[in-house]
Amino acid sequence: MAIQSHISVLYNESLDALKIRENGVYVDGTFGAGGHSRGIHGRGGTVIALDRDHSTLEFSREGGENWTTSLQYHHSNFSEMGTLLPELGYPQVDGVLLDLGVSSMQLDQPDRGFSFRAAAPLDMRMDKSQTLTAAEFVNNATAEELEQIFFEYGEEKFGRRIARAIVENRPLETTLELADLVKKTVPPKKRTGRGAQKSKKTIHPATKVFQALRIAVNTELDSLRKGLEGAIQILRPGGRLVVISFHSLEDRIVKETFRLYSDPWHNVPKHVMQPETDRVKLKRITKKPISPSAEEIEQNPRSRSSKLRVAEKL
Ligand SMILES: C[S@@+](CC[C@H](N)C(=O)[O-])C[C@H]1O[C@@H](n2cnc3c(N)ncnc32)[C@H](O)[C@@H]1O
Repeated sequence: MAIQSHISVLYNESLDALKIRENGVYVDGTFGAGGHSRGIHGRGGTVIALDRDHSTLEFSREGGENWTTSLQYHHSNFSEMGTLLPELGYPQVDGVLLDLGVSSMQLDQPDRGFSFRAAAPLDMRMDKSQTLTAAEFVNNATAEELEQIFFEYGEEKFGRRIARAIVENRPLETTLELADLVKKTVPPKKRTGRGAQKSKKTIHPATKVFQALRIAVNTELDSLRKGLEGAIQILRPGGRLVVISFHSLEDRIVKETFRLYSDPWHNVPKHVMQPETDRVKLKRITKKPISPSAEEIEQNPRSRSSKLRVAEKL
């Protein structure tokens, strides 16, 4: 489903995985343009929609009386769902969907500062009420802090060199200043290792640095960990947790969390010989993640790296 240029990824697969029941209550933790929420509504579910980007509110107001009166929209980080949903009167829900990362609207709106292709202030906040921007982060962090996030969140092998160049050239205020600095610091020739020569795909040299900064500014991985815990807490037995991730850092957290809560032997030291049955709260429905079809990737290249994992509350 496409609304305002955002095409919902793994649309049918994620809705099928939720096993939507007529009048069941479903949390869409990443409302975006509301594509998945509309799908849940269309299959008879009641939607509680959350998004940390308040500008997505407008999409909850479009699309007819029936939809807008039945949808509950909240400007909130999904990391808070464990406390928010009981406060709203829903101690238990029938399903939770998380479609992680940024939307096409956020990426394509130059002034949001997510893209290195358009000149804009270095912002990158999903939630505009948050004070920390990418510019503040880049201009105040130490070289070591920058290097660490480029390495951890971007798997950027030239992280140290880029971090030093940033410190020597700050203040940096715009996306293009940063993108050009990265490009100058690590000329494309330097990136052409053996792997890169084989690959026909050329990615912009600043791709990983921008990904890392975005993750750091929005504390995305901590939100994900906390959001998964919250979702497990509020799901009713038999309720489904459905997560679409877009890079390996996110997918690893989802996979690990599902394993931890479904396999009593996971991470139990060998000498202990006792399964931790008390912590088992989930059944994994997908041992291997579901990926988009070749047709979906062709129609929506942004779906390329997506992975869907599903677990059921016991
Ligand atoms: C990929 S889009 C979701 C698109 C949506 N599923 C659709 O079909 O239109 C991700 C959305 O999740 C929001 N988001 C990301 N992390 C969030 C978090 N921790 N809490 C709440 N919203 C979040 C972003 O602001 C963005 O609007």
